[in-house]
Amino acid sequence: MRLTLTRPDDWHLHLRDGPALGAVLAHTAERFARAIVMPNLKPPVTTTEAAGAYRARILAALPAGASFEPLMTLYLTESTSPAEIERARASGFVHAVKYYPAGATTHSDAGVHDLARLEATLARMEELDLPLLVHGEVTDPAVDTFDREKVFIERVLAGLVRRYPGLRIVFEHITTREAVEFVAAAGARLAATITPQHLLLNRSALFDGGIRPHNYCLPVLKREHHRLALLAAATGGSPKYFLGTDSAPHARGQKETACGCAGIYSSHAAIELYAEAFESVNALSRLEGFASFHGADFYRLARNSATLTLIREAWTPAPSYPFGADVLVPFRAGSPVAWRLAPAGG
Ligand code: NCD
Ligand code: ZN
Repeated sequence: MRLTLTRPDDWHLHLRDGPALGAVLAHTAERFARAIVMPNLKPPVTTTEAAGAYRARILAALPAGASFEPLMTLYLTESTSPAEIERARASGFVHAVKYYPAGATTHSDAGVHDLARLEATLARMEELDLPLLVHGEVTDPAVDTFDREKVFIERVLAGLVRRYPGLRIVFEHITTREAVEFVAAAGARLAATITPQHLLLNRSALFDGGIRPHNYCLPVLKREHHRLALLAAATGGSPKYFLGTDSAPHARGQKETACGCAGIYSSHAAIELYAEAFESVNALSRLEGFASFHGADFYRLARNSATLTLIREAWTPAPSYPFGADVLVPFRAGSPVAWRLAPAGG
């Protein structure tokens, strides 16, 4: 069986920098026409100028002949000014601003403690229609890790949506039924991305015969009923949900250790894994909307015109891929993925 789609885009991706960027970029460029590139480098990408320089490094790292457009983002800090928002909007290459609650995830220490300090900046984004991308987890240590998204909706997101009625917001990598319900009930200016791991795994995958660091990401995997709610949302045809892998490569040594980093690498099999998830509920006919149309429409960019073909034929990802001086262990390392990419032009 073959499945041909309009070429998809990845609306949430970590490409890193330097040798790590060179190691992972080809996987994304093979599958996706564009990607929203996360700004959580060390140091973070906080200015339009830095985003432009990062964009140039990404383009320089592309394999010969690849056609891929990086869509850049700014990292919101408590000193992001309205003037920076104006520069971002005028650049044409910055497409959104990313809000990390300080301390919520990898490289988020420069993030925001209190959104109330950013009123003028958020108002400028609202005026200029520059979307805000939200990592939706509270950082309050008193809140159980598995409840941090749900509590974020109550404590932060609901107020944000109310206070800036014109601001377009993407609730990134949603993981709970509560998030699906909140997005579904909100207006069209609130959308959400969903990762392949949250469609395919529940939290038992973290403890499958022993602790599984390569299934650890943030927000952490949740219970099965949440997975089913996400799958229903992704495959239900609503334009509010779109593909965002959150592929987040870390060296094996940073994952297989006493205090391992959060992040799952899925770029090597991203669209194939989504096809598996959609097929599991007989919804392959809805994959193209989720992967290729809804995100472009939300970001007000043209839909892609090229196509990509998948073949229903199992293959097994390598146990690891080179990653700078170390290696990285990909999602499904050493076990089969049901769909494969058709060779280019085939
Ligand atoms: C991301 C990373 O490693 O940069 N990790 C993750 O678990 N998703 C950061 C993030 O998006 O939370
Ligand atoms: Zn991410």
